[in-house]
Amino acid sequence: MIHDPGLSATNPDSPLIQIDHLTKVYELGEVEVHALRGVSVRVSKGEFVAIMGASGSGKSTFMNILGCLDKPTKGTYILEGIDVGKLSRDELAAIRNKKIGFVFQGFNLLSRTSAIENVELPMFYSTVSNKLRKSKAIEALEKVGLGDRLHHYPNQLSGGQQQRVAIARSLVNDPSIILADEPTGNLDSRTSVEVMGIFQELNNHGITIILVTHEPDVAQFAKRHVVFRDGKIRSDKVNTNPKIASEVIKDLPMIDDEEDEAA
Ligand SMILES: Nc1ncnc2c1ncn2[C@@H]1O[C@H](COP(=O)(O)OP(=O)(O)OP(=O)(O)O)[C@@H](O)[C@H]1O
Ligand SMILES: [Mg+2]
Repeated sequence: MIHDPGLSATNPDSPLIQIDHLTKVYELGEVEVHALRGVSVRVSKGEFVAIMGASGSGKSTFMNILGCLDKPTKGTYILEGIDVGKLSRDELAAIRNKKIGFVFQGFNLLSRTSAIENVELPMFYSTVSNKLRKSKAIEALEKVGLGDRLHHYPNQLSGGQQQRVAIARSLVNDPSIILADEPTGNLDSRTSVEVMGIFQELNNHGITIILVTHEPDVAQFAKRHVVFRDGKIRSDKVNTNPKIASEVIKDLPMIDDEEDEAA
């Protein structure tokens, strides 16, 4: 079989993510920082995992490796049957673009660029035609409820709307996984629930979601809780009764600000 990290068929029974004895040591001159000290974990397709733990416990380091943005010092990471540690930089970039969507705390939108153009960005690395790129961007924005904000700039959108643009951007290449590091960290509590509602809906459609949060209220919407401490997994539990964001939101008061009807 041809070695094609982006497209090769994988065993449907193998977990989406299979990580064994992962370590990460940052070298800072003379000093070594042991950010991950032996992490082993499996994640299956369709899971919704919340990663928690104190500041400095290794959550972002772990997410960067999961997202193929960084390589582990030791250990193995198998993503959909592909041993990520064996890939070149270009192959890693190709896998990242095809399989993984990213959402960050600070939204990371280009400020002088409209919502639709922000969402189109990840498709510039692929061979998608202009027309298809536009229609896929519109479709992704509609999915997150922003079909009426296509040409707004980030500074013309509320925080929750900006994060929804970022989620739409993470979706356009049809990833199998969305990785979100503190996606609700800059949002008020009602808006956080709205954003979690979008993640739950995407998860109901089969997208695997792995999300870092400091907030237990946010973690309640996930189906599994993994807690890090000192670069290791301290606990890993199924959340037997996840809250449903679309129900929780009904009991929350509306916030009267410019977000409600900016038009
Ligand atoms: N690029 C880097 N170079 C050196 N040390 C780093 C680097 N990135 C992270 N670290 C260190 O690795 C450890 C884990 O950091 P990490 O960012 O993964 O923590 P975190 O759990 O995401 O924390 P927070 O909740 O504050 O975001 C910390 O001690 C941090 O100082
Ligand atoms: Mg972090």
